Amino acid sequence: SAATDYQAEDATISQGVVESNHAGYTGSGFVNYDNVAGGYIEWTVTAPAGPADVSLRYANGTAATRPMDFTVNGQPGAVGITFPGTGAWTTWKSKTVRLQLVAGTNKIRARATSADGGPNADKLTVTPTSDDTTPPS
Ligand code: GCU
Repeated sequence: SAATDYQAEDATISQGVVESNHAGYTGSGFVNYDNVAGGYIEWTVTAPAGPADVSLRYANGTAATRPMDFTVNGQPGAVGITFPGTGAWTTWKSKTVRLQLVAGTNKIRARATSADGGPNADKLTVTPTSDDTTPPS
């Protein structure tokens, strides 16, 4: 089915701030995770039951990978997902994970797991899919 975009700046943010000082974001800004482990962005996503490709558009202007875990409605979804450097804070790339969603409301949380915090986060794109193979990253 169709892809739906959910802006990071419209989501629930813990230990992060909305900023707009690095060009190339969509919407009105992006979320700068604090440089601590445990900060998260949580999106409320409406979907049919089943697998979905969930892409986070991000920038990481450092040389160090910033890992995050994804949960869905508080349950483990995708663990240890890496967000490598993109070359500049103005260079945005997407990382895709496949998550199992329930019919209706899903709380998709992307939680930073290293002391550097997460990458700058622009938006989440959710595309429900019918097959259940591992997506490319
Ligand atoms: C810089 C950059 C921020 C980024 C931060 C970080 O301060 O300007 O956009 O979030 O580094 O390391 O996370």
